Amino acid sequence: MLTPTGEIVADAQRRGAGVGAFNVITVEHAEAIVTGAEAAGCAVILQISENAVRFHHGRLGPIAAAARAVAELAGVPVALHLDHVESDELFDQAAANGFGSAMYDASRLDYTANVAATAAAARRGHAQGLWVESELGEVGGKDGAHAPGVRTDPGEATAYVAATGVDALAVAVGSSHAMTSRDARLDHELIGRLRAAVAVPLVLHGSSGVPDDELRAAVHGGLVKINIGTALNVAFTGAIRHAIQHDAGLVDPRKYLRTARRDMADTVTKALRVLTPAA
Ligand code: G3H
Ligand code: ZN
Repeated sequence: MLTPTGEIVADAQRRGAGVGAFNVITVEHAEAIVTGAEAAGCAVILQISENAVRFHHGRLGPIAAAARAVAELAGVPVALHLDHVESDELFDQAAANGFGSAMYDASRLDYTANVAATAAAARRGHAQGLWVESELGEVGGKDGAHAPGVRTDPGEATAYVAATGVDALAVAVGSSHAMTSRDARLDHELIGRLRAAVAVPLVLHGSSGVPDDELRAAVHGGLVKINIGTALNVAFTGAIRHAIQHDAGLVDPRKYLRTARRDMADTVTKALRVLTPAA
């Protein structure tokens, strides 16, 4: 069932668990994420990035409607989140397209400009009932440039959350976007200081490159929303590559998309089990 992001995140936080937020590019991604979450018995967040919207000819409506329909039919709570939005115009379309939340990403700007743009976006988002995430200390890898050394300063983060009024904060603690290897090491001492300094839930981006033990430790240390994208595409593309390499006569996309979707669902189930500490 479609559920507000804020409710799912607050519930996970109460239980000391993480909630998986997985990137949707195609409708098969959305179906796989929900199937994987149902198998794990966990709530989940479907997120569509500005980059994915750009891929869909810059139109949010069709892919958002598909993800929303998949969410509504799910047997677990599913939230819809608009991710890494740099365009004010796109951000302002979120609520009308069924999103419970959006991430306004002004992390490329300097601190003062990030605060001003994010505070304005948060005000507009809140007026439409959105739960708003933003980022301080740019997590690398968005444009292929990995910068695992970037860090969010706890004192700055406290001031930033107060000045912007955001509901959740993405922090730079050692992960990097678009990693296809799982060998990122997180700065757990910093995570502890950020947790103590920041009142709102913390978000880990670039989690595909973070190994299971590090993810468990990150959730234990107080990170709540755990964003995973590339790991699904590794599963998706790997399955398709395998299928077409082994059958030169294969033309029906359902044949290879079915295995790709299944492998993405397995990836989701495994990740959600890592994020949910045993009771
Ligand atoms: O916002 C999306 C995530 O940060 C995904 O990062 O593709 O490296 O897992 P990833
Ligand atoms: Zn991200």
